[in-house]
Amino acid sequence: MLQTALTRRLGIDHPIVQAGMGAEAGAALASAVSEAGGLGTLGTIGTPPALVASAMARVRDLTARPFAINLVTFEGAPLRDELLDLGIAERATIVTLSFGDSVPAILRFRAAGAFVIVQAQDAQQAEAALHAGADAIIAQGSEAGGHTGRRGTLSFAAQVLSLAGQTPVLVAGGVGDGKGLAAALAMGAAGVVMGTRFKASEEFAGNPAHKAAIISSDGGDTISDLSNDGAYPFRWPENVRGRVVATPFGRHWAGRVEELRARAESYDSPRGIFSDATLDPPLDLNWAGESSGLVEEVLPAAEIVRRTVAEAERLLRKVSAVLG
Ligand SMILES: Cc1cc2nc3c(=O)[nH]c(=O)nc-3n(C[C@H](O)[C@H](O)[C@H](O)COP(=O)(O)O)c2cc1C
Repeated sequence: MLQTALTRRLGIDHPIVQAGMGAEAGAALASAVSEAGGLGTLGTIGTPPALVASAMARVRDLTARPFAINLVTFEGAPLRDELLDLGIAERATIVTLSFGDSVPAILRFRAAGAFVIVQAQDAQQAEAALHAGADAIIAQGSEAGGHTGRRGTLSFAAQVLSLAGQTPVLVAGGVGDGKGLAAALAMGAAGVVMGTRFKASEEFAGNPAHKAAIISSDGGDTISDLSNDGAYPFRWPENVRGRVVATPFGRHWAGRVEELRARAESYDSPRGIFSDATLDPPLDLNWAGESSGLVEEVLPAAEIVRRTVAEAERLLRKVSAVLG
């Protein structure tokens, strides 16, 4: 058993949090991870609140164990305020907050009695979240899939551990197996957040070709570039950009975000560039991080949890031998 401040505080068996990853990280994935003893998370970004409410009800039907919902807090995020209201109305007991200024949402969810975990990409965000009373901080390094900052995982996590004092810290970005979990715990972290590894799970409701590309990837073919956001009709905060496993679309537009934005803004229809069947190469973004190099097969989420914990336990038992 790997027991930490996080597992004790949340009443979970293993210090593994599955990242919120949009609506594709839905009830099937979140409930499978929670049922396996980790902390499953429903992704919500841009998802109509009624769908999130029914996904929460579904998770509650599928497992009696704790689960989180992920809410993005940056100015301009689609449906941000409606989704924050929904989290309060549906009495989310654990929330992960990401991107932009999370402080107002931290105060609101703390007042509502929720356990509030804040994902930070730089020291200023981590300090602000700690000051506002966050219950745990995710130190997210730039190897991560999806949106991430500019700091490498190792030194940033060490820095946040020093800042956080008694507040539990979780490490995100590049953790795809038990080696990453063992390293995080050995540093003094209370657990890890894994996104890319759970994207290649049976329960993640995404494009099978994207999962196959994660499996084929050696981790060296990811692209972190502003152009990965250029097709969307809203702007992400300055301190983050998206990381994807390269597709022909990503390679074509890398370094050309303004050109892509101009193209995306030239459409009249609401789905804009996303509905353009003539786009060559076609619009295709496979959000995933460098830990793709650690993923060899699509697995059930419970098996990912089991293998990760078993490997970390094996490694941590050996670590004390280093002390001589
Ligand atoms: C497909 C995908 C979608 C993501 N979507 C979100 C999101 O909606 N909200 C969020 O806070 N983080 C999101 N992230 C980032 C994760 O929260 C997490 O920090 C990251 O996956 C950790 O790094 P890893 O991918 O190496 O495990 C996403 C990551 C991936 C891979």
